[in-house]
Amino acid sequence: MTETMIAVIGGSGIYDIDGLDGAEWRRVDSPWGAPSDEILTGTLDGVKMAFLPRHGRGHVHSPSTVPYRANIDALKRLGATDVISVSACGSFREEYAPGHFVVVDQFIDRTFAREKSFFGTGCVAHVSVAHPTCPRLSEACLSAARDAGITIHQGGTYLAMEGPQFSTLAESRMYRDAWSCDVIGMTNMPEAKLAREAELCYASIAMVTDYDSWHPDHGAVDINDIIRTLTGNADKGREMVRRLPALLGAERAPCPHGCDRALDYAVLTAPE
Ligand code: ADE
Repeated sequence: MTETMIAVIGGSGIYDIDGLDGAEWRRVDSPWGAPSDEILTGTLDGVKMAFLPRHGRGHVHSPSTVPYRANIDALKRLGATDVISVSACGSFREEYAPGHFVVVDQFIDRTFAREKSFFGTGCVAHVSVAHPTCPRLSEACLSAARDAGITIHQGGTYLAMEGPQFSTLAESRMYRDAWSCDVIGMTNMPEAKLAREAELCYASIAMVTDYDSWHPDHGAVDINDIIRTLTGNADKGREMVRRLPALLGAERAPCPHGCDRALDYAVLTAPE
C-alpha cells in the first residue's frame, strides 16, 4: 500500500483551498523549471493534500506559459498519488449549462506551443493515453460533487485549444458539430499527458462558464461573464475537494487501471 496524497491543480478563480490542517505554502524545485507557484500542503481528514494554482496566485501564467512539466514533476516529487484538475470550460452542449461541472474523460489536443513530454532527448518513451483519465479517481470526484449538491455530468470530450483568444464561430461549430466535443478549454493539455508519463492518476473536473460562441441565444464569450460564473463555482469546487479524503482514504492500493504503472512497457531507450 502507498500513502495517498491528493493534489489539486486549481484553474482560473481557484487560488487556494481552505480547511487544511498544518497548511503551509512550500517551494518545490524541479529540473523542468519553476512550477506556477509554491504548493500549499497540509492534511484534510488525516489525508495528505497538495494544492497548486495553475496560473499562479495573481494569475500570472497564461494557458500557453503555464509550466506544465514543472508542475507535474513538482507534485510527483512531493509524493502526490492522485491529481485532480479543476478548470473553467466553455460548453458545446445545451444541457451542460454554465454553473454545471463535467467529469472529462477524453481529449482532443489542438495545442501547439507547449512542451508536451518528459521524454525525447536521451530517453524515449511512448505511453498510452487512449484512456487519459483515471476512472477510479473520476468516480470519486463524481460522488464528492454529487454529495456536495453540485450538478455534474459524467463523461465528456474536452477540446484543448491553444488560446489565448477564444474560438471563432466556425471553429466552435466544427468542434461541436463535426468533432462531437462536449467542452472546450485551454489548460488540460499537455497536463493530462504529462500526468500519465509521471504515472499519476489524473481526473479532470471542468466547470462550465459559457457556451463558447456557437449558441444562437448567447453572445460571444466574455471574460467578465466567465469570472462571474467562476466566482460562484469556486466554493462548489472547494466543497467537492473537502469530500475527497473520506472517499479516497489515507492508504492506496495500486491503481486498478494501471495509471501508476504507465511506463512499465513504454520506454524504448536501452539502459546504459
Ligand atoms: N475557458 C472558459 N470558457 C472557455 C471557452 N469558451 N473557450 C476556451 N476556454 C475557456
